Amino acid sequence: MSEPLVLGIETSCDETGVAVVRGSRLLGEALASSVAEHVRFGGVVPEVASRAHLEAFVPTLHRALAAAGVGLGEIDAVAVTAGPGLAGALLVGIAAAKALAASLGVPLYGVNHLVGHVAAATLDGPGLPDPTTALLISGGHTSLLTVRNLIDGVQLLGETLDDAAGEAFDKVARLLGMPYPGGPVLSAAAESGDRTAFALPRGLTAPKDQPEHRFDFSFSGLKTAVSRTVAAAARSGLQLPAADVAASFQEAVVDVVTAKAVAACEQTGARTLLIAGGVAANRRLRELAQQRCAAAGLQLRVPPVRLCTDNGAMIAALGWAVVAAGAPVSPPDFGADPGLPVTISVV
Ligand code: KG4
Ligand code: ZN
Repeated sequence: MSEPLVLGIETSCDETGVAVVRGSRLLGEALASSVAEHVRFGGVVPEVASRAHLEAFVPTLHRALAAAGVGLGEIDAVAVTAGPGLAGALLVGIAAAKALAASLGVPLYGVNHLVGHVAAATLDGPGLPDPTTALLISGGHTSLLTVRNLIDGVQLLGETLDDAAGEAFDKVARLLGMPYPGGPVLSAAAESGDRTAFALPRGLTAPKDQPEHRFDFSFSGLKTAVSRTVAAAARSGLQLPAADVAASFQEAVVDVVTAKAVAACEQTGARTLLIAGGVAANRRLRELAQQRCAAAGLQLRVPPVRLCTDNGAMIAALGWAVVAAGAPVSPPDFGADPGLPVTISVV
């Protein structure tokens, strides 16, 4: 018998993602983004995102089914992001998923967005070794996880105490006069900059921060240091070497996160480091992670860039893992949980 067809739905932030998997094979996916509608506000506006999901959902569902070459009637199970994320945005996906599952008479699973980012790495490839260390690095989160399995085996080793790394990229990009979302623009500018030009702080790496915050992150001091650099240049009347600031800032972020991720592998005995989330698209992060993993004898796994940012395929991948493990379906009255902890894979 062939493996079940699972439909995955993601609406936790500004991307409406729908995908179909058969087992761990991605058959087809579609994505609609409302990012352009948020640009003039310099960040995601929750009400705007919710309305965009509402408008995009049905067309995106049809595109995903067409890309997968399957009909709605063939779907065996539905998985939807239950949290964490924006409450109103999550609710649009959950309402749609409930309607679909009820009308098709198939099981519905409300799943964790963060674990979905990890699950994306299992699409069209082997499962994850037990244990795997996962560095989840996006606009909303920066966490180090120990993953023993995707169902009930995710532990939080540490997380950011203030901004997420992607948020820091976006804020520093704004300081440098770059448009939102600034991560990709800033990293492009950094390519021609000197990463040693400015000595910027590495948060929570001092001896006094150990062992309590060994696997936690903080980017607020770094952000303040960049803002002082920008202000000093403005006062002096000299032109700001924006590419050098961008490269030095980027280096401070990727230096800390890769060093802590490798240390986490050493502590837990994991031989594989997985990096997921939107910032995993960063070229310098991938390069330094690869160097440090090679030096420590670790295997590095990073999903393809399009699967690193929010998408429906990551939710379908987690949905398949949940179905395969025989996990109970979610209660029919489950709702959006904006603060769903990473230790809960299925609600
Ligand atoms: O995972 P994601 O699509 O959405 C969240 O769940 O947050 O991540 C988006 C974040 C944004 O902050 C964006 O600026 C950042 O990922 N990002 C990057 C790069 N591409 C996207 N940050 C640094 N370098 C990049 N190349
Ligand atoms: Zn995400």
